[in-house]
Amino acid sequence: MDAVEELKQEAGIAACKYVKNGMKIGLGTGSTVKYTIIELGRRIAEEDLQIIGVPTSEATKELAESLNIPLSDLSEIEKLDLTIDGADEFDPNFDLIKGGGGALTREKIVALASNAMIVVADDRKKVSTLGQFPLPVEVSISDWDEAKEKISPICPGKINLRMKNEEPFVTDNGGYILDCNFGPMISKPDIYEKKINSIEGVVEVGLFVGICDVIIFSSLSGIQILTKPNGRL
Ligand code: A5P
Repeated sequence: MDAVEELKQEAGIAACKYVKNGMKIGLGTGSTVKYTIIELGRRIAEEDLQIIGVPTSEATKELAESLNIPLSDLSEIEKLDLTIDGADEFDPNFDLIKGGGGALTREKIVALASNAMIVVADDRKKVSTLGQFPLPVEVSISDWDEAKEKISPICPGKINLRMKNEEPFVTDNGGYILDCNFGPMISKPDIYEKKINSIEGVVEVGLFVGICDVIIFSSLSGIQILTKPNGRL
């Protein structure tokens, strides 16, 4: 395992201390939270941990099923105790950019249905101002080019339709992703979230504002746990 992978694993596993018997847990998507999910699977198998997971993507669902984690969805469970997920960037206000893996819409729905959210990340994700990572915006396939036109006056850089194997990348919801190069200038993410979400054809923007309570991030000097003042954890 290389050094970055080790940092992801440390952060992913550290979040599991917040998971207690009987909890309903939102299971995020990505290469960091994967380690959280693997550890939860181990605790279920070896320590008789009793939880129900709600996955945020087909990939996470598949992983959780392979680990025998009992699963449900938001049509059966209205409120979750906790969501644990990764992030592409986090700022000092605990606001996030997410969607590098394309699962941002379900991730936001699940996080908003949770009593609290923990982000697991390595220190490369820590920024002073959001936007260096191209902001993912999920758009409907029928309106994606109009949506792109309407986002461009507020986005200083290029907007790229996300591709995979020379075809547009299609999300689990059947949408496309526009990766919007704002640059590190999103100091008021709430304003951008509202503006972008009001554009026709936009399904969801990957700005998570005021949702995250704890950030667990690892660096070569160890694990740091940042707890939001007046947060829910
Ligand atoms: C998935 O759509 C994303 O929001 C991920 O949570 C985010 O990209 C972080 O993923 P990694 O842990 O793989 O960097």
